[in-house]
Amino acid sequence: MLLARFGFESGAESLEKKFGRSKLRISVIGCGYVGLVTGTCLAEAGHQVVCTDNDPQRITALKAGVVPIYEPHLDAMLAANHRSQKLSFTSDAGEAVRAGEAIFICVGTPPLENGEADLSAIDNVARLIAAEACESKLVVEKSTVPAQTGQQLKRVLGVYRRNGSVEFRVASNPEFLREGTAVEDFLHPDRVVFGVEDEVSEKQLREIYRPILERRFRCPVHMSPCPATEPPTLVVTTINSAELIKHASNSFLAMKISYANMIADVCEKVGGDIKEVTRAMGLDPRIGPRFLDAGLGFGGFCLPKDVQAFIRLAERSGVDFSMLKEAERVNKRRIDLFVEKIRQALWVVKDKQVGVLGLAFKANTDDIRFAPSLEVLRRLLAEGAQVRAYDQEAMDKTSAIFPQVRYFREPYEVAHGADALLILTEWPEFRQLDWERVYGIMARPLVIDGRNLLEPAAMAEHGFEYHGFGRTLENLAPAAPPVPASAFKAASAGAELPLVS
Ligand code: UGA
Repeated sequence: MLLARFGFESGAESLEKKFGRSKLRISVIGCGYVGLVTGTCLAEAGHQVVCTDNDPQRITALKAGVVPIYEPHLDAMLAANHRSQKLSFTSDAGEAVRAGEAIFICVGTPPLENGEADLSAIDNVARLIAAEACESKLVVEKSTVPAQTGQQLKRVLGVYRRNGSVEFRVASNPEFLREGTAVEDFLHPDRVVFGVEDEVSEKQLREIYRPILERRFRCPVHMSPCPATEPPTLVVTTINSAELIKHASNSFLAMKISYANMIADVCEKVGGDIKEVTRAMGLDPRIGPRFLDAGLGFGGFCLPKDVQAFIRLAERSGVDFSMLKEAERVNKRRIDLFVEKIRQALWVVKDKQVGVLGLAFKANTDDIRFAPSLEVLRRLLAEGAQVRAYDQEAMDKTSAIFPQVRYFREPYEVAHGADALLILTEWPEFRQLDWERVYGIMARPLVIDGRNLLEPAAMAEHGFEYHGFGRTLENLAPAAPPVPASAFKAASAGAELPLVS
């Protein structure tokens, strides 16, 4: 039905003849973060894309233009491409499989109890493709998977194939999208990796990515011309290498963060400012400035699970990746250290009004999966704190897990009457708060900053007791004069304010 609706060509045409075409028929299986961004961006690049998901409600919502995730630029792009019929949605997975000449697998690979990736969704999709395909297909792994999954995928496709004349070519095309900037990352990548085992797959992937590699698309992210940066580097490897590139990259980023966090701990002990240290470190091009922000550590659905899966993969291959185990251990300890800072500052946590700014695992997303905030909330509630919270995007998702937390429509309402204010997500909005005003409405001017978002000296000038990670005030010059107690206008604790949910 989809084939007819969009005037798709028949499968008889040989792939060689198709090269040079700017438009390919692409199916995307899985409408999560990766699938929706991939499908929408490939449609934006000019291809004919159909997306499917095993959650029919999600598909109904998408057909009605409701995007189930918050990702900058995605809803406008999705709506425009849906309107122009370059992007469609179906809950009939078989129909989606038959429609595409290339099928991108974008299903979840969540962690199992033992830390290994659960590949059951990939297996299900492979069997579905094998059963439904009536013409030869390029099957592209986009989901993050352990090395050698491509080989298994090829085997399953072959074993379950119903039509003997149908050929499956498998490729790995790992994604390096960051939530919050996923659309920009897709359209302006630093590198594009193709893990392939045959020339036809490589050529077809080149055709799919040609608009992005050659920057031949109308950029929906930058209003004016896009920033002049180097064009993306195309890296063509084996399938195993491509799978490893993804895990190795995410694990390295995790290690970099844990390393910065350890330096922050040393700064606290010996006197030093982590921001000064990492800034100078980052000026060395061999190190680079990014992913050196110390604080609560890494969360989200990618880094924590990919680190675990990489450790297990190494173990199963007889390699003890102890370095990575340590990075994971350091990361888990961040929450202990943060809660300890809260305890030390508040003395008794029970019955204290604790305001929380930020719930998402990082800024510019509504995603709370493996967010450090969840564990902080759990521990505060277990100790009997009265928790009040605000986040631009993540309150609905958090309130489903923690209904006992009071959610407010703006940060000042959270600060009102609070004994402590915690910053758990690096939303830029928090940096721009009117801190004079916050000072005036808190019961006690105490800020514990899990993201090193604020400047200790400026906070001291406002009169706050401020704690970050690796930034003790004594190490910063010039020290701010102490604020007299009489200047502090304590607001009455527990003032009645409107609840969001
Ligand atoms: C990560 C990778 O950065 C992407 O390249 C990859 O494609 C993606 O996983 C994936 O596998 O799909 P993402 O999970 O969106 O992207 O988040 P990051 O930007 O990597 O941040 C992860 C966590 O590390 C966040 O909790 C963030 O707050 C924390 N972080 C990041 C730090 O604590 N310090 C830093 O310096 C940077």
